[in-house]
Amino acid sequence: MNVVYYYWTSITIRKEISAILTIASCVDTWKLFKMADVENILHMAISETDCPRLPASQGFTIPTIVRGEELPQILLDLRSIKAYDWQSVVILYDDSLGRDFVTRVLTSLTIDTKELTAGGAAVSLIKLDKHNTGMDKTSIKNTLSTIASRLSGTNFLVIVSMELVTYVMETATALRLVDTNNQWLYVISNHKLNNKSVAGILRNLKEGNNIAFLYNVSMSGVDCKEGMKCHIEEMLDAFSKALDAAILDEFELAGQVSDEEWDAIRPTKLERRIFLLDIMKDYLIKNSVCGNCTAWQIKACDTWGKEFKTSSTSEFSLIQVGYWRLANGPSMTDVLFPHVVHGFRGKSFPLISFHNPPWQIIERNKTGGVNWRGLVFDIINELAKSLNFTYTVIVLDNGTNVLGNNSNNSNEISYGVTYTVPERVIQMVQNKLVFLAAAAYTITEQSKAMVNFTMPISTQTYSILAARPKELSRALLFMSPFTYSTWLCLLLAIMMMGPILYIVHKYSPVNEYNGINVQGGLSSVYNCIWYIYGALLQQGGLYLPFADSARIIVGAWWLVVLVLSTTYCGNLVAFLTFPNNDKPITTLNDLLSRRHTVTWSITPKTFFEYEIKVSNEPKYQILYHGSMKDIKNLEEMIRNIELGKHVHIDWKIRLQYMMKEQFLSKSTCDLSMGKQDFFEERLGIIVAQDNPYLERINLEIKRLHQVGLIEKWLKDYLPKRDRCFKTKGSSGVNNHTVNLDDMQGCFFVLFFGCSISVLLICWERLFYKYQKKRDRKAVQPFIS
Ligand SMILES: *[C@@H]1O[C@H](CO)[C@@H](O)[C@H](O)[C@H]1NC(C)=O
Ligand SMILES: *[C@@H]1O[C@H](CO)[C@@H](O)[C@H](O)[C@H]1NC(C)=O
Ligand SMILES: *[C@@H]1O[C@H](CO)[C@@H](O)[C@H](O)[C@H]1NC(C)=O
Ligand SMILES: *[C@@H]1O[C@H](CO)[C@@H](O)[C@H](O)[C@H]1NC(C)=O
Ligand SMILES: *[C@@H]1O[C@H](CO)[C@@H](O)[C@H](O)[C@H]1NC(C)=O
Ligand SMILES: *[C@@H]1O[C@H](CO)[C@@H](O)[C@H](O)[C@H]1NC(C)=O
Ligand SMILES: *[C@@H]1O[C@H](CO)[C@@H](O)[C@H](O)[C@H]1NC(C)=O
Repeated sequence: MNVVYYYWTSITIRKEISAILTIASCVDTWKLFKMADVENILHMAISETDCPRLPASQGFTIPTIVRGEELPQILLDLRSIKAYDWQSVVILYDDSLGRDFVTRVLTSLTIDTKELTAGGAAVSLIKLDKHNTGMDKTSIKNTLSTIASRLSGTNFLVIVSMELVTYVMETATALRLVDTNNQWLYVISNHKLNNKSVAGILRNLKEGNNIAFLYNVSMSGVDCKEGMKCHIEEMLDAFSKALDAAILDEFELAGQVSDEEWDAIRPTKLERRIFLLDIMKDYLIKNSVCGNCTAWQIKACDTWGKEFKTSSTSEFSLIQVGYWRLANGPSMTDVLFPHVVHGFRGKSFPLISFHNPPWQIIERNKTGGVNWRGLVFDIINELAKSLNFTYTVIVLDNGTNVLGNNSNNSNEISYGVTYTVPERVIQMVQNKLVFLAAAAYTITEQSKAMVNFTMPISTQTYSILAARPKELSRALLFMSPFTYSTWLCLLLAIMMMGPILYIVHKYSPVNEYNGINVQGGLSSVYNCIWYIYGALLQQGGLYLPFADSARIIVGAWWLVVLVLSTTYCGNLVAFLTFPNNDKPITTLNDLLSRRHTVTWSITPKTFFEYEIKVSNEPKYQILYHGSMKDIKNLEEMIRNIELGKHVHIDWKIRLQYMMKEQFLSKSTCDLSMGKQDFFEERLGIIVAQDNPYLERINLEIKRLHQVGLIEKWLKDYLPKRDRCFKTKGSSGVNNHTVNLDDMQGCFFVLFFGCSISVLLICWERLFYKYQKKRDRKAVQPFIS
């Protein structure tokens, strides 16, 4: 082995060197490390205290620490392995932390160098008075209460002696400084945790806390070896052992292959460094004696989800998460704050639920197993993923009994579900038998007094289910372009225009003057009326009056006819195109204005029913008192709705289900939903009042709302739109083929005309016969 010594640090490290051992200041150690690392040289460093260790995969660091002054180094080591990653921290300390130490601890937490991956934290320092360790600890309480108004998400580093630990825990809990977002790291330097102190700690833990302990398990004794010389010897020992092993290993391999092959497969410098480091670490962990008296234990509290487990292990506990030794630094077996990183750590919770689509859909499959899905379970699955828990479901039948054998058909709309949370659910939630109730319930003030709700997962509105407006008969379609009064005026005009024309025609002297024969043609009232009628239908008459006066009348009539017929044609086309519908009931006001002709009902025990019952608005009072209270037969009710005799009020989505079911069974669309949505009802998931995770759950629900997932899931559960969802008014506007229904009216008129004409001809023939008979009977005067 070639060994080169240097007494100064401004050196260049040659390529062929395989390892360096430095004893230098922090700055120089890192400077040399960077130089050596380029060449993949193994670096063993003995450095000053409070210096970040070299990366564990590239080198080996031992800080020289005076016994009893290792705390700043521990905090720095934990920070550099990112055991905690704090932006800000509140440090509470008492006299157990010496004055000089405060600065060093602060530096450990705040120093921001390139060597550390975790950034420094902003620090608030709060000193707790040591004089208060007796009975009177109010000043600590006062001190702590000054930070009580801070937002959650704060980190606390508490460096106190054992006597104060439980008191600080107690006070912090009372001041609500401990919650699911805050992190508390207690550093206890003067005491090893024993059964008694652990019991005191466990007593002060609450569900949802994030608390970790770092405590001194160092020993003092004569057989404790320490000091730089010891470390150097030990390290070189380890190095020579590792080098031995490496050379042996390589010789063995080299002996089996040829020189060329060996050049190809020999380990690179990097591989060699990794090999050496592994062996050194192994050796040191097993055999290291230098400074092995200085050791600290790291424990975390397992507090999340303990209350809700029905199994017997539902007690808080401390779990070992790591160990700190001078030579190795921190070796973590778990994370410092397990719940911050891993949430509930895969615990399994019971939930309570029951069938109430589309929120919770509980189904029994063929093999008798119970499956669940629905919007609430979608949300809970997402929660379970982000909070890292699993769940089992206790299923209630209709919100009251645990689901038995004779559960009803799961496709049925459940009407037993009320807006008030059932006693059973409240009991189970309050007694912590379940983590939460996987059920969406209306958020009401009454319920809020007993349980807490998450933020609304959905807002439901009520609507009206009424008959689809019937299409009116189109028999008289040809009449509809004009109103009855228009038709009447028209008839009168024809009746009057005939005689007027006749009079003007008759009394005009022009005919006589010109010697025109005034017999026939327009010279009879009867003919004039027919003429006017013919002109109305744009069938020109045979004759035209000769006199200007009469012609002006005819001309004026033609003008009227032009306007009338154009209007009629245009309107008729419009009436043919647009269906002629009944007036539907679409709003509450519609319903109230027709309250004498239709009955109505409101689904019992809904929030809407309750609200209008207690409302003092006259409109709602009429609505409530006039409604039918007992609907026994759902099918009969729907039949009545279809017939237009009845109207039903419920959640819009339940009505949608009803419409869909009706469509599927009869494939006709006889039901329609009102256009007006009224009465917003907010639904939330039920949790116990002191559930510390409500904030986390709300945060998650908010996130789901923001990305639109909840809306999408709900849409997936709702009935798909079919043709019944279309409003009839718009259908067929673009595409209406005129059919017999539209045309039947004019055929009736034709038929009517023909019938009258047949009657008339019969009458005419009879009259003619009668006339002839009378002529024969009568004595004819003889005319010679
Ligand atoms: C840790 O405990 C040992 C032995 O009890 C003691 O000598 C040492 O000072 C303690 N360390 C600190 C930082 O208080
Ligand atoms: C330190 O090392 C010695 C020798 O291996 C061993 O006897 C002793 O128990 C060790 N101490 C600790 C605290 O590990
Ligand atoms: C959930 O918890 C288990 C147990 O602690 C852990 O192994 C796992 O990584 C965690 N999962 C997540 C996503 O945090
Ligand atoms: C029925 O449900 C049980 C319990 O959820 C489940 O294990 C089983 O696979 C289901 N069977 C079928 C056929 O889906
Ligand atoms: C249903 O009832 C029968 C007999 O009453 C019983 O054997 C069976 O286990 C029950 N099934 C369930 C799922 O409770
Ligand atoms: C839970 O309920 C209690 C009692 O009604 C109330 O004081 C508290 O503010 C509620 N918590 C939330 C987050 O709404
Ligand atoms: C009109 O309706 C018929 C039959 O209902 C359909 O085949 C045709 O595509 C429709 N045309 C338009 C433009 O919608």
